[in-house]
Amino acid sequence: MSQPARNSAEEDAPLKGHSFDGIEEYDKKLPNWWLWTLYGAIAFSFFYWFYFHWVGNPESTAQRLDRRLGEIALAAAASGGAELDNAALWKMSRDEKVVADGRKTFLTQCVSCHGADLKGGIGVNLTDKDWIHGGNPTEIVAVLTKGVLDKGMPAWGPVLGKARVAQVAAFVLSHHTEGEEIRIVPSPTQSATAPAAAAAP
Ligand code: HEC
Repeated sequence: MSQPARNSAEEDAPLKGHSFDGIEEYDKKLPNWWLWTLYGAIAFSFFYWFYFHWVGNPESTAQRLDRRLGEIALAAAASGGAELDNAALWKMSRDEKVVADGRKTFLTQCVSCHGADLKGGIGVNLTDKDWIHGGNPTEIVAVLTKGVLDKGMPAWGPVLGKARVAQVAAFVLSHHTEGEEIRIVPSPTQSATAPAAAAAP
């Protein structure tokens, strides 16, 4: 058997002395380019970690996930493809962009009855814990969509569409926190169709 040819650089390095199935190993220094790539990567990882987690990116991964899920829920609502549940609507209510879009709708469509501070007027207060039709997110979406026509609350579903109803519901919800008390109260508004005698004692 003839020995395989060795170049001079290989001959400089001593053999390590072990043999696996006839394969032997030279005891050679790692090339400098390889070592500097490794050191460079270690240095880069430090700066990258510092930048990514502390400086350049104030939003945490969890916050970014929440925001993206909110955007997805909103896109799903806009397409009419998915029904929004309470959890999705609460998420949307913590999303600045969704809430800002909802505020715009509120200031053009709702402010005349519910007031700029949402404390009511012709319409009822939307910031307190008293709810006539329920204070859960899906109940708010339902009352927005269908309205309470005989009490003077228009049906917004056909006017705004699903996505903008969801945004304005998120804006209302941004004045509330998940899990807070919900008190069901009777409507203060006298029904336009109910007999007057029913309201007067
Ligand atoms: C023309 C006046 C008017 C406008 C405009 C109006 N609302 Fe109302 N809204 C009312 C009245 C009146 C009620 C109370 C209904 C009742 O007594 O059952 C009400 C009730 C509600 C409720 C239910 C409150 C509860 O306690 O259950 C929500 C939520 C609501 N409005 C949100 C909105 C939003 C959001 C808009 C804008 C897209 C809007 N409203 C526009 C008059 C209005």
